[in-house]
Amino acid sequence: MEKQWWKNSVVYQIYPRSFMDSNGDGIGDLRGIISKLDYLKELGVDVIWLSPVYQSPNDDNGYDISDYQKIMDEFGTIEDMDELLNQMHERGMKLMMDLVVNHSSDEHQWFIESRKSKDNPYRDYYIWRPGKDGAEPNNWTSFFSGSAWQYDEATEEYYLHLFSKKQPDLNWENPTLRKEIYDMMKWWLDKGIDGFRMDVINLISKVDGLPSAPGRKRYDWGGDFFMNGPRVHEYLQEMNREVLSKYEIMTVGECPGASTADAIKYANNDGTELNMIFTFEHMDLDSGPGGKWNVKPWILADLKTIMSKWQNDLEGKGWNSLYLNNHDQPRMVSRFGNDKEYRVESAKMLGTFLHMMKGTPYIYQGEELGMTNVRFEQIEDYNDIEIHNMYREKVVEGGEDHHKVMEAIYIKGRDNARTPMQWDSSENAGFTSGTPWLKLNPNYKEINVAQAVADPNSIYHYYQQLIKLRKEYEVIVYGRYELILEDDENIYAYTRTLGNEKLVVLCNFSGEESPIVLPDDIEFSTAELLIGNYPVHEEDSVNSFSLKPYEARVYLLK
Ligand code: NOJ
Repeated sequence: MEKQWWKNSVVYQIYPRSFMDSNGDGIGDLRGIISKLDYLKELGVDVIWLSPVYQSPNDDNGYDISDYQKIMDEFGTIEDMDELLNQMHERGMKLMMDLVVNHSSDEHQWFIESRKSKDNPYRDYYIWRPGKDGAEPNNWTSFFSGSAWQYDEATEEYYLHLFSKKQPDLNWENPTLRKEIYDMMKWWLDKGIDGFRMDVINLISKVDGLPSAPGRKRYDWGGDFFMNGPRVHEYLQEMNREVLSKYEIMTVGECPGASTADAIKYANNDGTELNMIFTFEHMDLDSGPGGKWNVKPWILADLKTIMSKWQNDLEGKGWNSLYLNNHDQPRMVSRFGNDKEYRVESAKMLGTFLHMMKGTPYIYQGEELGMTNVRFEQIEDYNDIEIHNMYREKVVEGGEDHHKVMEAIYIKGRDNARTPMQWDSSENAGFTSGTPWLKLNPNYKEINVAQAVADPNSIYHYYQQLIKLRKEYEVIVYGRYELILEDDENIYAYTRTLGNEKLVVLCNFSGEESPIVLPDDIEFSTAELLIGNYPVHEEDSVNSFSLKPYEARVYLLK
């Protein structure tokens, strides 16, 4: 397998609105990020993925872009951006920007023109259709509830929006639009940025004729007609030829609904499309038949099946990205660990579990502190458009029980991840001197950077070690993955093998002490413990012992 810098890198995701506010307006900004670069350098991360900082009316907090070449006023100026980039490069860190080109904002100049008349030169930059029998052109639903179509009076047609109605989908069939996007990407790359995280990039090609989903419902899930669509590989290969291949960069595509077979095409070894993708399969483990908000308990056997499938299917053929949370997902320690009595142990265990797998690990801001989900009592305390649209549809219009829906929000809502970063125990956790745009998690008095940096046993210091190990042992980067103890209901165990080196990774996903018996072919007598989240006694180094609640250990066998 070819060695590349982005394979032994660790990425840290910043959600700028919530990271650090430098000017007291309650909103994080670029100068705030600059002021915390030494903290990130100290943690050891190589790359920062910056969620969108472009001009935006913030219907979806920056994922609705009205000018791709301007910086959002609240976040700063293009000079701040240049300085951020310089300061990162000076510290040997790389910057990956978010690229949101499945849709733009309805306040983008292109759309303002497009909606004016049917013969406007920009009309075809978006997807317009006449209504059918007095209703929407098809029955597709938006990711954010309701129809994916919005009627526009000026021209008496509908436009497609897979997300909010202020996020009209761009029409990738139009070569002029594609060229504008490539030019914009080159403009950023020529500034020196080091890569792109591509927002829902596998939705850019829609099936010809935009057929209705086969369900009879008025609004139905049309995913099969726009996820991994017919021309998506053609477009990405073109983008690669025209733009990506000309730079030494890193690319990751966000791809809901992509299988491992799709991933091998998107992230193929020949490098004709992207370097890696984000899968969603493990993020759907706790979704019932009714989807994301129909929460069901997840089980370890399913996590094993999904993670192992991605590890094995991509072996030698593509490259994985590794994540357990981001700005769209609940906090990982609340979802997959125990955010109460074993918060620290389980956060370290989950970090171990992920960082020892094959692929590029992503840390979401605050994960290195073990930040947790939040419970706000009032729906008004939430900001996220997805939460509000869903609440309106289910409770206000659908009459469902308020408390039941709030419980689902507590478990799955995106604002769990978006409460401001917890820097210290002072007012507003040191995030802002003003009024924060979203309330803080009240646990910031105990869980914060100042505490974590001062405590040698903190999650933060444990992550530092995980990152260091990746730089020291090639087997962590390039070793082949194999699941062991497949049927164990508490323990997720796997090995990684590269030449004569073997890692054994043992993770107890339960709050119970769990006995472990390793397969006979693992010769344990000379094992060296590389990292663990509990003290380990010498006499434990035999093939059978117990793991404490949420214990994780990584052994190196030579
Ligand atoms: C995925 C992004 O991660 C999410 O935050 C956003 O709402 C949608 N794409 C639409 O851009």
